[in-house]
Amino acid sequence: MLFEKFDYMARFQAELNAQDVIPFGAVTEKILSATEAIVNGRKVILAGTNNYLGLSFDPRCISAAQEAAGKWGVGTTGSRLANGTFLEHQELERELAAFHDVNHSIIFTTGFAATMGMCATLVGPGEVLLLDADSHASIYAGAQLSGAEIIRFKHNDPEDLARRLRRLGDRGKQTLIVVEGIYSMLGDTAPLQEIAAVKREYGGWLFIDEAHSMGVLGTHGRGAAEAAGVESEVDFIAGTFSKSLGATGGYCVSRHPELETIRYCIRSYIFTASSSPMMVACTRKALQILQSEPALRRQLQDNFNRLYKGLQSLGLPIGPSPSPVVAVALEDRTQAINCWNALMEAGVYVNLVVPPASPSTNFLLRNSVSAAHSSISVSACSFPAMAAPGVWPLKLV
Ligand SMILES: Cc1ncc(COP(=O)(O)O)c(C=O)c1O
Repeated sequence: MLFEKFDYMARFQAELNAQDVIPFGAVTEKILSATEAIVNGRKVILAGTNNYLGLSFDPRCISAAQEAAGKWGVGTTGSRLANGTFLEHQELERELAAFHDVNHSIIFTTGFAATMGMCATLVGPGEVLLLDADSHASIYAGAQLSGAEIIRFKHNDPEDLARRLRRLGDRGKQTLIVVEGIYSMLGDTAPLQEIAAVKREYGGWLFIDEAHSMGVLGTHGRGAAEAAGVESEVDFIAGTFSKSLGATGGYCVSRHPELETIRYCIRSYIFTASSSPMMVACTRKALQILQSEPALRRQLQDNFNRLYKGLQSLGLPIGPSPSPVVAVALEDRTQAINCWNALMEAGVYVNLVVPPASPSTNFLLRNSVSAAHSSISVSACSFPAMAAPGVWPLKLV
C-alpha cells in the first residue's frame, strides 16, 4: 500500500499529539527580536534558529529588503536562465566571489538547492563521490541524483578517507570529496588540514559545505577552510544565506572558471525561479555587515564558549568542541521529548532532533547560539533551565 511506509511517522505524530507536545513545526506567533518570540503560545528565548549573527532582524537588512521590493517587486517569476537574472543577483554573485577571494560564484534559491545541485552535477555515472558519513541531507540527495558511485568515509576521519582513495587508485584522482566545515548537528569541525593533505597525496576534488561555518570561523569570517589555512586547496565552497546571513538562499564559489559553464547544467539552478530580489538585497546588506563588523563574530564566540562551558560543567554529553551548534545527546525518544517540553515550559526553545535527521541513532537537543543573545539569555538557555530539578532527567556525570 502506498501509505504504509508512513505508518511509523503517523504513530510518532500521534504520540506527540497525545502529550500535547509540538516540537516539529512549532508555530512562531510573534517575533519580538532576533532572540525572543512567542512560540506555541509561550514567550521563549530562541536558542535553536541558526541566526548566528542575529541579522534576520537587523533594521538595515529589513530596510534593504523593503527598498528592493519597491524597486524590483516581490518575486522574479522566472529562472535565472530566462527572465530571473536581475542586476541584484549579479551583484551578489560578484560580492560573494570577492568575499571568498575567488572569481566565480553562483547563487541559488536555497542552500539545499546549492549543495544538492552542485553534488548532483559535478559528478556523474562512472565517477565517484566520497562523502563524510555525517553529511547533510542535501549532500546525500545530490549524491543520489548524480548517478555516481557513492562511498562514505568515517565521520571526520582523514585516515579512512585516505584508505578509500588508495583503494580507488587512478579513479581517486577524479573523485569528488565532500565535507562540511562545521557539522550541523553536533557542531564539530572538519579536520581540514589533514583532509587537504590526503587530497594532496591521492588527488581528488575538494568540496566544502560551509553552511554553518561561514560568518563564524576564519579571520574574515569565510569559514572553516579559511580558519585551517587551506582555501587555496579547496575546489568548491558552498554556503547558505539562511544562517549567519539571516535570510534565505544559497551559493557556490570556486576558483575554477569552469563554474561559469557548469551553471548551465545544474537542474536546481535552471528549473526553479530565482531568489526574490528582497532576499538578495537583504543578503547583500548582511554580507556587508558581516565584513565590516568583526565584533559580531567575537560576540558569537564569547556566547558559544559560555554556553558550551556551562553545559560541560553540568556534565552533560555534548559535542567535542565549542561552536555555535551545541548539541546535548539524550538517551531515548521519550527523554528527548520530555526534555524539549520542559525547556519550552522554562522559556527556552531549542531544536529537538531525532533519527534520521541526527547522526547515528542520536536523540539530540540542539542549541544554536547567536551573537544577539545577551549573556543573560545565554545563561538562561543553559544553566537554570537545564539544571532545574525535574527538568533535566539525565544523570549528571
Ligand atoms: C550543512 C547544511 N547544508 C545545507 C543546508 C541547507 O541550507 P538551507 O536551509 O539554507 O536550504 C543546511 C541546512 O540546514 C545545512 O545544515
